[in-house]
Amino acid sequence: MPEYIGPEAILEKKKKYIMPCLAHFYKEPRQMVRGEMQYLYDSEGRKYLDCFAGVSVMNCGHCNPEITKKVCEQVTNLQHVCNIYLTENFVNLAERLAEVTPGDLQKTFFCSTGSEANEGAALLASIYTGSSEFIALRNGLHGRTKLGMSLTGIQMWRTDPNPVGGINFAPNPYCYRCPLGKKHPECGLACADMVEDLIKTATSGHPAALIAEPIQGNAGIVTPPKGYFKRVKEILEKYNVLLIIDEVQTGFARSGRMFAIENFDVVPDIMSVAKALGNGAPISAFISTAKIADTYTKPGASTLGGNPVSSTAGLAVLDYIEKHDLMGNAQKRGQQLRNGLLELQKKYPVIGDVRGLGLMVGAEFIHPEDKSPNPDLLDKVLETMKDDGFIIGKNGVARNVMAFQPPLVITEQNINDVLNALDLVLEKTK
Ligand SMILES: Cc1ncc(COP(=O)(O)O)c(C=O)c1O
Repeated sequence: MPEYIGPEAILEKKKKYIMPCLAHFYKEPRQMVRGEMQYLYDSEGRKYLDCFAGVSVMNCGHCNPEITKKVCEQVTNLQHVCNIYLTENFVNLAERLAEVTPGDLQKTFFCSTGSEANEGAALLASIYTGSSEFIALRNGLHGRTKLGMSLTGIQMWRTDPNPVGGINFAPNPYCYRCPLGKKHPECGLACADMVEDLIKTATSGHPAALIAEPIQGNAGIVTPPKGYFKRVKEILEKYNVLLIIDEVQTGFARSGRMFAIENFDVVPDIMSVAKALGNGAPISAFISTAKIADTYTKPGASTLGGNPVSSTAGLAVLDYIEKHDLMGNAQKRGQQLRNGLLELQKKYPVIGDVRGLGLMVGAEFIHPEDKSPNPDLLDKVLETMKDDGFIIGKNGVARNVMAFQPPLVITEQNINDVLNALDLVLEKTK
């Protein structure tokens, strides 16, 4: 085995050379050195089932041989010239994206990160509408850049002391802890109706766009009720406000559909994508209808956006998703996982809620007496699960939601294994 510096040395260097805003998971983190589809290996040779996929990135699995082969071929031929010169992969990828995205989304701008894609999507909405006002959802997360952070509705991720103005936040469709204190379906989708209220009372009446994740990842896999986005879109159309859907975390088969917004039968005006498009290669994009895109005529380019290597990765990812029916697997294995978690919920009332679509599944940990968040218990459970060979994510505004977002190649046996392990750990920590 090669010599690795090991977790302790990494932590020391991190403290000395990396800005302290960057936290890491676990009290006793491991050094990950190798990945193989749904599995990870640490510097001491231990194997893990990865149930988080590097935050919804490795949808096709770690070091997927079919994708890696194509990327390696491209790396040895041509790595970069910038898209101001002609290469073919980025236009081929844009063509494929036009085919797989919903409705009449057609023209793409390539960049490298999710934050950048949302920044660009907001810019395009401003150019098209002439407005720089936005509506976002409470507890949404859209990035680390100035505007991305200002559009983010989670205090923990809004560290900018001077966020930009002109942004109003609508209540999020979080049925387990409804921000309006109502119950679905008797609420009549009151949270969606609040968008109209906001437009009328808090804006000039003409905001550029509303931006939302179709399933709020960082907020704790907050999954809206079925009719939510339809109602929101109707309201936005009434006021000529665009809908930007942030598929950075939910895109590329994760929810059981190519894009999570398709589960809600709504076509956005602009969509941002990143993470899983490259399966580890840095690529992101925003895509819109030709009518909206064609207003973006002033010069705009991203040095690395859609470079030959990352575009090759994107094309290989789309091929792999289709060839191996990852949407079908996300539906089947997601159902199996949710059913298993609901069974565990009956046994362990610390699991307050199980929610999600496809293989984007959250289990919210609570104190059963009063339903208050229980992040400490979740931390203990996640640490033990890691020691037992299972990497599971964590999110939620109170950091109390266990997040399953595994590579979509995960098997029936893998899901049974993680559920059985969780059962044993919950039994022990009871
Ligand atoms: C929904 C969503 N949007 C945007 C971002 C920002 O993406 P990036 O970290 O690639 O800039 C993230 C990151 O986790 C995200 O989850």
